Amino acid sequence: MSGRLQGKVAVITGGTSGIGAATAEVFAQEGAKVVIAGRSEEKGAALVKRLGENVIYQRADVTREEDIKALIDLAVNRFGKLDCMFNNAGGPDRGTLDTVSMDDFVYSMQLLLGSAVFGIKHAAAVMKPQGSGCIINNASIAAIRTGQGGYLYSAAKAGVTHITKVAGVQLGPFGIRVNSIAPGAIATPIFWGGSQVANTLDDAANQRKMEKLMRSLANATPLPRAGLDKDIAYAALFLASDEGSFINCHDLVVDGGRTSLFYEKK
Ligand SMILES: NC(=O)c1ccc[n+]([C@@H]2O[C@H](COP(=O)([O-])OP(=O)(O)OC[C@H]3O[C@@H](n4cnc5c(N)ncnc54)[C@H](OP(=O)(O)O)[C@@H]3O)[C@@H](O)[C@H]2O)c1
Repeated sequence: MSGRLQGKVAVITGGTSGIGAATAEVFAQEGAKVVIAGRSEEKGAALVKRLGENVIYQRADVTREEDIKALIDLAVNRFGKLDCMFNNAGGPDRGTLDTVSMDDFVYSMQLLLGSAVFGIKHAAAVMKPQGSGCIINNASIAAIRTGQGGYLYSAAKAGVTHITKVAGVQLGPFGIRVNSIAPGAIATPIFWGGSQVANTLDDAANQRKMEKLMRSLANATPLPRAGLDKDIAYAALFLASDEGSFINCHDLVVDGGRTSLFYEKK
């Protein structure tokens, strides 16, 4: 099937790498017009060049509410509406249980929870008068189980999973669906420090890290392979398409069975 998002308009934060970049590609292939955002202008420009005229890039830092609002304004001004908001951007947290400072706390919550809070707020402002819309928040299996992410990362993602349900209940009467995806062990640069570290390495160094990561993730997942960015992109496609039109307040776990492991596979 193709054209599953024909005529739809989407904003994808964190569209310059990993899951967000793969989702931008899948959404564009399925006919959507897409605004991608991130801090890396070089990567944004390269992706726009590769994906064609239906994809535009705008620099945004999701720890800044005004940047998030500006993305939605851009989508509406350029394409006339907003059908799907994918609050996807994220990265490693800061601090541990023993070392966490107030600055670490504020940074981690702004990046990982605030980005969804303000993405929902500004998407809803456009979607309510439309009477339709789909918001997808990228949560994590770290919201469900311990040991799957950092201390504040796990807490913030649990917040994302829960505000998804609260927002879905509040926005459902306006025809707006709010769902989350809980990816587990998807091979992206987040495992070696996130896009900010990956951007300082050359292609060969990133490739070596990716190959090593793919082997270790495959070993820690019931299915015998690592999760791929496209696995999450296809989950987002399903939620954003008309096929997902009765799904609301749902956390869609995409983890190859990892959260069902009683113990870590050796
Ligand atoms: N990979 C996994 O196994 C996994 C599991 C569970 C959840 N997730 C979640 O999936 C999402 C995407 O992560 P990924 O695995 O695809 O990692 P990634 O390849 O490192 O991509 C992260 C993206 O977020 C953007 N970003 C980071 N900080 C930002 C900021 N302050 N403002 C704007 N954009 C920012 C980055 O863009 P710039 O560098 O251009 O700013 C990049 O596009 C995250 O929310 C992550 O927590 C991933």
